[in-house]
Amino acid sequence: VVQHAATDAGLELGDTIYDPFSGSGTTALTAASDGYVGKGAEVNPFLRFVAQTKVSKGHPERFSDAVEECLDAAKTGADCWLEEFSTFSSKAEKAKARGKWLFNGSVLKTFQGTWDHTKKLPKSEKALVRLCLIGGAMDAANAEKDGKCLRYKRNWKALRLGKDDFVDAVRARSKLVAEDLEVTSATPLNANIELGDSRRIAIDGSFDLCVTSPPYLNSFDYTDVYRPELFLGGFVSNMKQLRDLRQATLRSHVQASWKDPVQADFGKTYSDAIARLNEKVASLDANDAGLWDKRIPMMAQAYFEDMSTVLKSLRRKAKAGASLWLVVSTSAYAGVELPVDLIIADIGASNGWLLRDVHVLRHLRRVSCQQWNELRDRPDASGPHLRESLVVFDAAPRKRK
Ligand SMILES: C[S@@+](CC[C@H](N)C(=O)[O-])C[C@H]1O[C@@H](n2cnc3c(N)ncnc32)[C@H](O)[C@@H]1O
Repeated sequence: VVQHAATDAGLELGDTIYDPFSGSGTTALTAASDGYVGKGAEVNPFLRFVAQTKVSKGHPERFSDAVEECLDAAKTGADCWLEEFSTFSSKAEKAKARGKWLFNGSVLKTFQGTWDHTKKLPKSEKALVRLCLIGGAMDAANAEKDGKCLRYKRNWKALRLGKDDFVDAVRARSKLVAEDLEVTSATPLNANIELGDSRRIAIDGSFDLCVTSPPYLNSFDYTDVYRPELFLGGFVSNMKQLRDLRQATLRSHVQASWKDPVQADFGKTYSDAIARLNEKVASLDANDAGLWDKRIPMMAQAYFEDMSTVLKSLRRKAKAGASLWLVVSTSAYAGVELPVDLIIADIGASNGWLLRDVHVLRHLRRVSCQQWNELRDRPDASGPHLRESLVVFDAAPRKRK
């Protein structure tokens, strides 16, 4: 999508491509690899680290040597404070109470030993090695990512994942990184991903093209799913910092207690959908209502309020001929579809953007999130078809080619 949008916009080398929801940095990496300037913002410090590390340069042999040096230094391991924290290892009170823990002690100890050694590495190798270590620890964890949550691996206790699994996983990952470093250009990539909340921080400078995928309105809290990485990498060190981070994310989930939205003028498609949703909620019987989070209609309103703030600030920073490409997904709650793509099209159009296209990329058959799970299994549930779409805007009428 990034390459297609850049070609479509007729960008020249050195032009700027921006992504206010950078995630692991696909837009900035693609942009910079193709000779443009890649800029981005990301609120989650672990994801920002991933993105910034991916656009950094490294030397394959020096990198591989640095990994081995860390693995060597970690033979004896080191105490890791996370062993007693939350559900990180069997030593933690909460883990004991639940009978489940994210890491076996030897994984955390070996991880810590290698991590401590990275402090001695030169800057050019440090981030890449750290990324591999965090990845290796996650490979050797008792839980893994599954859609929007962390799920314990089947037979995780019997697997007895330990030190050797961590070391093997780090080696496997570092081999891939070294191969990537071999084939990527030796010149540093021109890319920068800022850490921050896109509703509040402004892009430094203006952009020629924005390609982004905001969080979907699917109650998926990225902060939660990346909780282990955030703590392992020291990006957060207590629950308050985790809560603050959650608070800074777009209001696409109900895991944080955010301020109620005040704006509701997002066009007719929005008003009709919210009216249908409220009607449906009012008609749910006590059983269904019990499964239902009452803040969901409010979450939808808050989401569009946030998107409206972002679209407005993007318009201010768009150069005269700039375009904006958004990948979004529709959602459904209690069997009522929220046509997010069409609502975003209306919001953009009332914030200075000229709508060019709403293009369906694919229909989503399997919805892994809670959205309409509550009704999915009932025989009368016809289940709305969700879709992922591209919404394309221009800052000004396009000149005929
Ligand atoms: C759909 S993902 C983007 C995925 C991305 N295209 C990639 O290549 O990985 C949305 C991202 O928006 C981030 N995000 C959520 N709220 C944000 C905010 N207020 N400001 C900036 N980023 C935010 C999330 O942490 C998540 O990484």
